[in-house]
Amino acid sequence: MPDDALTLLGGRSATEFLRDYWQQKPLLIRGAYPDFESPIDPNDLAGLACEEGIESRLVEEHGKEGPWQVRHGPFDEKVFAELPEQDWTLLVQAVDHYIPEVAALLEDFTFLPRWRLDDIMISYAPPGGSVGPHVDQYDVFLLQASGRRRWQLGGRVADDAPIVQGIDLKILERFELEPGHEWVLEPGDMLYLPPGWAHHGVSESDDCLTVSVGFRAPSADEAITSFADYMGEGLPASHRYADPDMTPPSDPAELDDEALARMRALILDTLDDPAQLAQWFGRVMTQPKYVDQLQPSETPTEVDTLVAELHNGAEIERTLGSRFAYRLHDDGEATLFVDGDGFACSPILARIMASTAPIDADLLGHEGADRLLVQLLDRGSLSWPMDDDEYDDWDEDDA
Ligand code: SIN
Ligand code: CO
Repeated sequence: MPDDALTLLGGRSATEFLRDYWQQKPLLIRGAYPDFESPIDPNDLAGLACEEGIESRLVEEHGKEGPWQVRHGPFDEKVFAELPEQDWTLLVQAVDHYIPEVAALLEDFTFLPRWRLDDIMISYAPPGGSVGPHVDQYDVFLLQASGRRRWQLGGRVADDAPIVQGIDLKILERFELEPGHEWVLEPGDMLYLPPGWAHHGVSESDDCLTVSVGFRAPSADEAITSFADYMGEGLPASHRYADPDMTPPSDPAELDDEALARMRALILDTLDDPAQLAQWFGRVMTQPKYVDQLQPSETPTEVDTLVAELHNGAEIERTLGSRFAYRLHDDGEATLFVDGDGFACSPILARIMASTAPIDADLLGHEGADRLLVQLLDRGSLSWPMDDDEYDDWDEDDA
């Protein structure tokens, strides 16, 4: 992969950015996207927040029910008409799952592993709107899409920093501006923030749209629980604590060192399985963000129909929001991971499927491609492009 200076990273190469900033310290990038045009407007965002199945929040600093009132969508359109002129924020998660022009922004972030991505959240706020000074556990690139937002950073926050009690947000009780860490972002400017940094962004215009490209990292708690569950499923009942080497205990009530060593070995040796770790890791990192959004096909796809369609010039699309990754194995084979499942295939097929390369008739030259495509279409991870008539029907149904 070329390591050119990237405008997106303020003229730094990916290597320089990762070495000097990633997970370490914030970086303000003026003009990360020169002449940036927002891929969405506030009305579109409000429209998404009214749709069933789309995760959204409305945060009011001076809500009727108290300060920092949070309401969760879907919202009735009337809600927006009743809001005050300032001091509120609408946040919509995973906008990249619904708007292809928003998903296209992800192509600029290939200097990071795709499976680290959580989603693209977009917020709209009139003047004074913010979600309060807070801290997130995610790396985030905050791209100003339109209007202006004043960002203040407050340095790294301890895990046990007091947060305001009784509200549905992790707002910090104390926020102290770190000298020199205050900027007003204009369209196309971007701020990178590592996890654990206190930040506070307040809108300074009536068209403030902020795009958050968020990267997740599983916590030790989630990873251990999930991996242990995955491993546990395949273990026979006979695989258990055993002590055929035991000598008479000096005190039958004591948990002695030998017992502890046997238990430690049982757990650690069982879990120390690199092949299983890879299978679990690929599955867990490609789990869909919203399982319900995967729409399996109603009728199973026939291999012959698929092949004929592709030879007719059709292209298959990766469903927006579907997650793809792969792992190469020492035996020359690979596993393609898609939306929480693993599929054995050749390295070349895995690489193509997990890239943004077109999925067309050329792919059929690879052993097993037809069967893989059928499975992924039937699971909903791949889809046929909607033709114009279908778009029209969809718009009418939706109106
Ligand atoms: C916002 O867009 O208002 C908040 C984004 C964030 O602080 O993570
Ligand atoms: Co935040």
